Amino acid sequence: MAVRKIVKYGQPILRQKTNPVTEFDDEIRHLAEDMVETMHEAEGIGLAAPQVGESKALCVVNLELIDETAEPKAYINPKIVADDGTSTLEEGCLSIPDIREDITRPESITVKYQDINGEEHEEQCVGMLARVLQHEIDHLNGILFIDRISPMRRKLLSKKLKKIASESSFEAPVSTSG
Ligand code: CO
Repeated sequence: MAVRKIVKYGQPILRQKTNPVTEFDDEIRHLAEDMVETMHEAEGIGLAAPQVGESKALCVVNLELIDETAEPKAYINPKIVADDGTSTLEEGCLSIPDIREDITRPESITVKYQDINGEEHEEQCVGMLARVLQHEIDHLNGILFIDRISPMRRKLLSKKLKKIASESSFEAPVSTSG
């Protein structure tokens, strides 16, 4: 396992729709393990594959932060099939450091996904898990949480965002091998 570098705002991969995962092999297992390790190191509650430079429909959630008896979990090819209610909570993103904004989203969701062995599941999620999964599934579709704030708030953040993007453009291109 290895901690991977986190791709920052401004890198095109964060804006691409990811490819579905079709092979449930060692490669995807290693990627999921690396993502869990990277998420732990960065103290994140969730991480999506494009954030480590892989355009694949896979995200991991640090369930221990929600329920300390739970283990980190991978959601592969996740799709929200139903949602209900609304709630407003502050969000941040490991790819957009130092920006936190209130975001309104459905309060509960039903998500269909495959586990690391390719088995299909359907899960009802509320509260923090519903929130994290919606943020991560957005990543898999090239959407960032700052897309969900008002145009006026975004304008106020534009200088900070430009700074993050210009710093990330000086970093070495993302390697997909490690
Ligand atoms: Co994020």
